[in-house]
Amino acid sequence: MRKPIVAGNWKMNKHIGEAQELAAGVAEGTNGFDDVEVVVGPTAICLAPVAAVIEGSNLGLAAQNMHWADSGAYTGEVSPTMIKDAGCDWVILGHSERREYFHESDKDINHKTHVAIEHDLKPIVCIGETLEEREDERTLQKVEFQVRAALAGVNKSDIKNIVIAYEPIWAIGTGKTASPEQAQEVHADIRSMIADIYGQEAADAIRILYGGSVKPHNIAEIIAQPDVDGALVGGASLEVDSFVSIAETVN
Ligand code: G3H
Repeated sequence: MRKPIVAGNWKMNKHIGEAQELAAGVAEGTNGFDDVEVVVGPTAICLAPVAAVIEGSNLGLAAQNMHWADSGAYTGEVSPTMIKDAGCDWVILGHSERREYFHESDKDINHKTHVAIEHDLKPIVCIGETLEEREDERTLQKVEFQVRAALAGVNKSDIKNIVIAYEPIWAIGTGKTASPEQAQEVHADIRSMIADIYGQEAADAIRILYGGSVKPHNIAEIIAQPDVDGALVGGASLEVDSFVSIAETVN
């Protein structure tokens, strides 16, 4: 069956030495966790230094974003080949903060998803509704639109290497978590949509993570949901103990 993933999105936190210390602590704390994939997502500048300290461990390394071109006149951007060279095997795409503050569109995210696959990087594609959309009962409509847009043109054979992260925007960094039932409803809907497009085998293979105020005290009830395959963790991934505790519960 699907191996769960616990991924930490460190966002714009931790300087190089701190990032190395956190990553080393997570690598040590999760050593021997065979039933969960653990991934850390430092800032771009910390990717190579973190890669150096986690070498030989089971930890995966994710960039938080990437450009779609391999090189060129794109001031301030980091390319897929650069993040691979730094040691990444994963890339987080389309986080709501990238959509909101950096105007990333569904089209950009689709482009980057294709590029990630071409470069053998596993994309963690983030989607999720605003509070207003949830209150208007437009949650499923919104997430279905975002998933379809992100995956447009993606081949069935690549679906197993793509991870979807459902992150209700109103739950990110707010301490408000979606209830396990709310998360399950959305995850099941996404999986059934994948089944409609790509068939049941692809739907059974794709991993769908929940993100939004995941903490050591609430992960057990979230991961108990049949269509929740792990978590994308923000705040609680910034401390060794809380992140390792989340991974331990999922393991
Ligand atoms: O990518 C991670 C999410 O934005 C969740 O962040 O755990 O701090 O709510 P949070």
